[in-house]
Amino acid sequence: MDMTKLDVLVIGGGPGGTPAAMALAAEGRRVRLVEKGTGLGGTCLFEGCIPSKILHESARRLLAIRSAAEFGLRVPAGEIGIDWNAIMERKATILNRRAEGALQRARRIPSLSVQFGNVTLLGPHLARIIPHDGKPEDVEFSNAIIATGSVPNLLPITGGDLPQVITSEQLLEIEHLPKHLVVIGAGPIGVEMAQIFAAFGTAVTLLEAGPRILAPVDEESAIALQTHVRRQGIVLELGAQVLRISGDGNGVRVEYRDAAGAQHTASAEYVLAATGRSPNVGSLGLEHTAVHFDRHGVKVDGKLETDEPGIYAAGDVVGQPMFAHWATAQALALAGHLLGRPTRFPEPATNSAVIFSIPELGIAGLTESEARRGRHTVGVARYDYHTDARAQVSGHADGLLKVIYDTTTRAVLGIHVLVEGAASLIGEGALAIRSGIPVEVLATAIHSHPTLNESMGAVAREIVASSRAAIRGARTHRATG
Ligand code: NAI
Repeated sequence: MDMTKLDVLVIGGGPGGTPAAMALAAEGRRVRLVEKGTGLGGTCLFEGCIPSKILHESARRLLAIRSAAEFGLRVPAGEIGIDWNAIMERKATILNRRAEGALQRARRIPSLSVQFGNVTLLGPHLARIIPHDGKPEDVEFSNAIIATGSVPNLLPITGGDLPQVITSEQLLEIEHLPKHLVVIGAGPIGVEMAQIFAAFGTAVTLLEAGPRILAPVDEESAIALQTHVRRQGIVLELGAQVLRISGDGNGVRVEYRDAAGAQHTASAEYVLAATGRSPNVGSLGLEHTAVHFDRHGVKVDGKLETDEPGIYAAGDVVGQPMFAHWATAQALALAGHLLGRPTRFPEPATNSAVIFSIPELGIAGLTESEARRGRHTVGVARYDYHTDARAQVSGHADGLLKVIYDTTTRAVLGIHVLVEGAASLIGEGALAIRSGIPVEVLATAIHSHPTLNESMGAVAREIVASSRAAIRGARTHRATG
């Protein structure tokens, strides 16, 4: 029997693999998409972005009800009930609906075949597919895309393997709300989970080895968020060294040293290990190809091609930055490239991200220190939401918008916004930075009133006004000097 010949074999059905497979098949390429789980969506849908946002949504609504009196609303006195099972059921419904939708959309494309099973590469153009419900099949492919994502790092600490030490994936599936939780690592996962569970009433200790939370984020914005984290009642220890974890009845004791060297013990029902994720390259058979990888990810060039010509990789598996939307942007660019179109691959300097903290933190482009390290003459402008109409109305005026721009080219380089609603607001920032618009254009965009978006225009007008004042000052200086 003839062996199946594919144009493209896509390994992994997450936000990297699925859009690439669909875009290629939509143009008539014969594509096989193989996912080792039981649905399309990857870590983002089943264990990451979406389930955590479902909990975040419930947590924010709970906080809103608690602050009802501020808005002239009287809610019955007493504790507001949390039906954890109902939250989990809502989560399952949304996840199932999204997975089904993704599969239906994929199955509508005639030249795309979706399979659930494992793939092992047998050579540069040959792979074995072992479906969950069928016989193994060998296929030949012209190109392959490795989009197998990432897995949580284990905690290399004594007691890190105790059953109470869990990953974010396990925490999102937890059967009841823990009374006490120790979170190790204050990256996006640690911060989001700490704030969500603290909002639900869990006593949270957040231990971070570094000098501040969210190391890759703009420092001033991250430090401003630390104030919110502490105000929420979370015990945040920076510069903490976790010494060991030991069993304590049904729970655990976490011994750590604080930045000053003093030793402490925190008791908890669970410990969340949120110390980063590593590329998922296990059992792919990469040794049968020239694909190289290390602990940071599969090695690729600027066009996402591995060291094995014709085999590409996209998303978390190629390393930082690890974001679902970044994986999709890479995947779509890669699909365009394989279809022979001139393609601009995504660049970190124009990426955007949202930390779903409380309040949200929206990020687009460079941090202030990245801009200063680059070849830019850097200007920074800030906007305080205490003076903002919409922020006052919504009761979330404690926020900061920071715009980083090039004083010579006038291009907006970075936007960092810490305010409730930043998740939507940052879309405008992403567009501004991706299209390289000057601050003068942002200043003249007509933003509706009263919206948070007005802050973008207001801060840009401040920049324009202060630049004009500086020019006037220089002229006066020359005339009088
Ligand atoms: P991360 O690598 O971003 O942060 C891990 C943190 O743990 C670091 O601050 C590190 O200093 C700290 N750490 C490491 N070992 C430690 C130890 N022994 N004791 C104390 N602290 C320790 O990883 P994270 O938060 O697990 O996220 C994984 C990936 O997922 C990231 O690349 C992130 O960008 C992505 N993600 C993005 C989200 C978003 O965009 N909203 C949400 C969640 C995750």
